[in-house]
Amino acid sequence: MSKSITILGIESSCDDTAAAVIQDGRILSNVIANQKVHKQYGGVVPELASRAHQQNIVPVVNEAITNAAITKEDISAIAFTSGPGLLGSLLVGVSFAKAFALGRDIPLIDINHMQGHILAHFIKEKDGSCNMPDFPFLCLTVSGGHTQIIKITNHLEFELLGETIDDAAGEAFDKSAKILGLPYPGGPLIDKFAKEGNPKTFNFGKPKVSGLNFSFSGLKTSILYFIQKQVRANPNFIEQNKPNLCASIQHAIITILIEKIELAIKETGIKEVAIAGGVSANSGLRKALLSLEKKGCKTYMPPFAYCTDNAAMIAITGYYKYLAGEFCKQDITAQARLHI
Ligand code: KG4
Ligand code: ZN
Repeated sequence: MSKSITILGIESSCDDTAAAVIQDGRILSNVIANQKVHKQYGGVVPELASRAHQQNIVPVVNEAITNAAITKEDISAIAFTSGPGLLGSLLVGVSFAKAFALGRDIPLIDINHMQGHILAHFIKEKDGSCNMPDFPFLCLTVSGGHTQIIKITNHLEFELLGETIDDAAGEAFDKSAKILGLPYPGGPLIDKFAKEGNPKTFNFGKPKVSGLNFSFSGLKTSILYFIQKQVRANPNFIEQNKPNLCASIQHAIITILIEKIELAIKETGIKEVAIAGGVSANSGLRKALLSLEKKGCKTYMPPFAYCTDNAAMIAITGYYKYLAGEFCKQDITAQARLHI
């Protein structure tokens, strides 16, 4: 029997320090240390994030190896996020991975974070189960920093069809939540309150962006002006309308996303459609995506554990790059801006 391929994945692009082990495409462990320190500032503070990564990285990796019930000697290669992300945060993961690869004399694999989000669809559970899309498929990648429509022809070939020209969908959620006085990150809270609200209560208008590109900054401004006006007339407006406001905001963001993915389906003729990234955890978006099945599409959404930032997605991408022999050298550096 041939030897197993065991990949240790490291993710440190923003405010989560994560490590995971994937063996022959199957998940063995997936550990994430969230950084609570940013909450009081209403957003991620880059300097504090890199400091927390430095504290977390060794215990998180040790836990991932222990939970996987393997030893360091079993690891075939180490995969790490090289970008895009916060430079200081990325550097912690990059330095750790380089040192680990050097110490163990194993290959080093650099991973594009956004590619990782997409390949999360290929992580097999321990029992081998996985609902994988067929190639080619379209992926709506929606996170705190990106909103893209990508055509995927194989595990390692990606074509960007459209992207946001200003804010990302996750930013639209978080900034709207901030206007409502909700703490960071507000996306999951909008999702929670929206469940009890009516999405048709307030109408915030739609951006006019041609083709497969997105825009969310106009929506944010329209929400801000509307709320300011209402609060001037009634200081308790937000408190009295929170579920309806959240449902309406969520509905506006999802409508923008779904309209564009429908256009991409029409333009490419591809009916395999996936979502990925932090916002793919949104219950409204998941429901809206599922409704495309009525139009003859097959839809795919990652399990919740693989939607927001994690290292399993980095390890699975590392696995496919390992199979293709795509390794990097020790002179690799972190790149805050990195295109797919
Ligand atoms: O992929 P991710 O964890 O980090 C980045 O690569 O940016 O995405 C984080 C984003 C945040 O903007 C967060 O508010 C959003 O994903 N998010 C959600 C939900 N869960 C996370 N947005 C709406 N509904 C959710 N349930
Ligand atoms: Zn992400």
